[in-house]
Amino acid sequence: MPTLINQQYRLAARPVGAPRHSDWSFTSEPVRDIADGEIIVQTIYISLDPAMRGWMNEGKSYIRPVAIDEVMRAGGIGKVIASRSTKFKTGDYVCGGTGVQQYWAGAADDKAAAFHKVDPQLAPLPKYLNALGMPGMTAYFGLLDVGQPKAGETVVVSGAAGAVGQTVGQVARQKGCRVVGIAGGQEKCDFVVNELGFDACIDYKAGALREGLKQHCPDGVDIYFDNVGGEILDTVLTCINLKARIIICGAISQYNSTTPVKGPSNYLSLLVNRARMEGIVVFDYAARYGEAVAAMGQWMAQGKFQTREDIVVGIEGFPDALMMLFEGKNFGKLILQMGEE
Ligand SMILES: NC(=O)c1ccc[n+]([C@@H]2O[C@H](COP(=O)([O-])OP(=O)(O)OC[C@H]3O[C@@H](n4cnc5c(N)ncnc54)[C@H](OP(=O)(O)O)[C@@H]3O)[C@@H](O)[C@H]2O)c1
Repeated sequence: MPTLINQQYRLAARPVGAPRHSDWSFTSEPVRDIADGEIIVQTIYISLDPAMRGWMNEGKSYIRPVAIDEVMRAGGIGKVIASRSTKFKTGDYVCGGTGVQQYWAGAADDKAAAFHKVDPQLAPLPKYLNALGMPGMTAYFGLLDVGQPKAGETVVVSGAAGAVGQTVGQVARQKGCRVVGIAGGQEKCDFVVNELGFDACIDYKAGALREGLKQHCPDGVDIYFDNVGGEILDTVLTCINLKARIIICGAISQYNSTTPVKGPSNYLSLLVNRARMEGIVVFDYAARYGEAVAAMGQWMAQGKFQTREDIVVGIEGFPDALMMLFEGKNFGKLILQMGEE
């Protein structure tokens, strides 16, 4: 095989506020030869996730920070182009921790990369980074395991047109719940109602969230799946029912803040309503991912469930593409295409 050149994005500096171009370095190096038990994966798609912003920070979290000068961590899908392992053969498609780079070389059973095979005949590859991947697992287990929805209950989800939000709403519909989304802009709201089958969607940017919640949740809110935190969380807390469940999945409104995270001032609503607020970290459910893939795969095959991806092409666009998440510019699961399928 001719020497392959691997282009990569590495973390150059820890951002203060929103990441800037100077926080990244764009490097290239030859792909090394592999030894017994190793593989080379050519990256095709990587998942751009709000969590990446947290991984750039120093400090204790559910996963170690990306080190300065390290290739940026990213989940991705690629093709095995060389193998000296019995685990994967050349031509296999795999999903795992590829990082923001064109090639990954290492042990086929590398724990951090955690590669597993995916089948492009069963679903288009980008779906494995969306509902059949990490965001889908987050939505499925966050809603069902933490939220414990019952038919007839009202579920509200923020970031409704995004990767996690789309799936939360559709799983809740499958469970017989009334589903109200919160999203930025009429186009996204129309999509979740008309295409995904939510009962209603409130455009929080129009400035009448509280009124919208009163209108579309006449019986109050039983479950709130929170992807955004900040003022939206605070407002939803004023509308919850007795024994409501608030699922803390993320707080994207706070990730680039240079001041302390804004916590909910209406938290005493939890006391009054004997309600519960609980976090979810998707990796805790790794042993059960197959359950979620089977359920959602079946709904997809039956035409009862769909997802939208927003695919940006070219590794060079990584820094700007990542920022789309924080500016509400992505419409569906944001994916960066690094190479041809
Ligand atoms: N706990 C876990 O294990 C886990 C796993 C995966 C993801 N997450 C979290 O889940 C959340 C959603 O992730 P995702 O991958 O599905 O992203 P996404 O919803 O596909 O994309 C992010 C969206 O957030 C919205 N947003 C951005 N800034 C906002 C602000 N200031 N206020 C309100 N909304 C804002 C934008 O939508 P609009 O145009 O609608 O504003 C944007 O399109 C994130 O908080 C992420 O960290 C958690």
